[in-house]
Amino acid sequence: MSLRGRDLISIRDLSKEEVLSLLASAQKMIPFAEGKRVMHPLANRIVAMGFFEPSTRTRLSFESAVHRLGGSCITIADAAASSMRKGESLSDTIRMLSGYADAIVLRHPNEGAAQLAARASDKPIVNAGDGAGQHPSQTLLDLATMHEAFGTLAGLRVVLLGDLRYGRTVHSLAYALGVLFGVELVLTSPPELRLPAELRQELEKSGTKVTDEPEIRKAVRDADVLYVTRIQKERFGDEGEYRKVAGSYRIDSHILEEAKPRLVVMHPLPRLGEVAPEVDRTPHAAYFRQAFLGVPVRMALLDAILAGAPAAE
Ligand code: NCD
Repeated sequence: MSLRGRDLISIRDLSKEEVLSLLASAQKMIPFAEGKRVMHPLANRIVAMGFFEPSTRTRLSFESAVHRLGGSCITIADAAASSMRKGESLSDTIRMLSGYADAIVLRHPNEGAAQLAARASDKPIVNAGDGAGQHPSQTLLDLATMHEAFGTLAGLRVVLLGDLRYGRTVHSLAYALGVLFGVELVLTSPPELRLPAELRQELEKSGTKVTDEPEIRKAVRDADVLYVTRIQKERFGDEGEYRKVAGSYRIDSHILEEAKPRLVVMHPLPRLGEVAPEVDRTPHAAYFRQAFLGVPVRMALLDAILAGAPAAE
């Protein structure tokens, strides 16, 4: 198995063994991500960040990962500041970036953009979110967070709460948990924001146990992990549709009263009102640890894709 030179467009691009190997190497990266130890496997490598949608954690943790590995970044942090604003196509932008860098991390509002970019680029593309599509590196850090908390993924019962329709983090994570690791999934969402039927069928076909539990309290009671998501306002065609579901769920210490003592509450962040700040002080809160783990996980990923690759000739 080698990820060298490969794209990561969808979580489906990785086998279970590849995911486990990335999690193992991410764990070893932690002291390097914390700056306590130093390594430079990406010295003389350049990674381009093409972010055409807002981002805090994903872009900065990828950049931090590149720096911690001794590489350099070139960054488009805002679509409005790039020539895409002048009407340049995504493929032209990517083709050019592939001449400036050894790999490209791409975030784009259109589903399928990363796939399109991979066709335009002769350098590896890492999908950092394509519309309501996929967010595979987020899934790796989500799995790393669960693995760190429980020492395994086997036998967990994971509740996915919130915008399961448009949430790309959920789309990648549900596949990995269900299809790769056989984890039981409980789906809790407003009826308008259910998991896409196609994905649900794929999960069920793989033998994943998937149940709906519209009542948050009931879902929380038996959960090992509660994965909360933000309603993806920017994906709604109609503001009225968004207003119908906005603020329809909130996790607070009251709801957590009946939770298992070891329940882990996760959130890819940013949060709006879905997780009350009071939860931060409980032992359940794992979302800031989760955000930190983005650095060692992305170090492991970039190292696997880029390290040892022949320097540009
Ligand atoms: C998520 C995203 O961009 O899909 N954020 C992230 O990458 N941590 C989740 C979100 O925006 O709600």
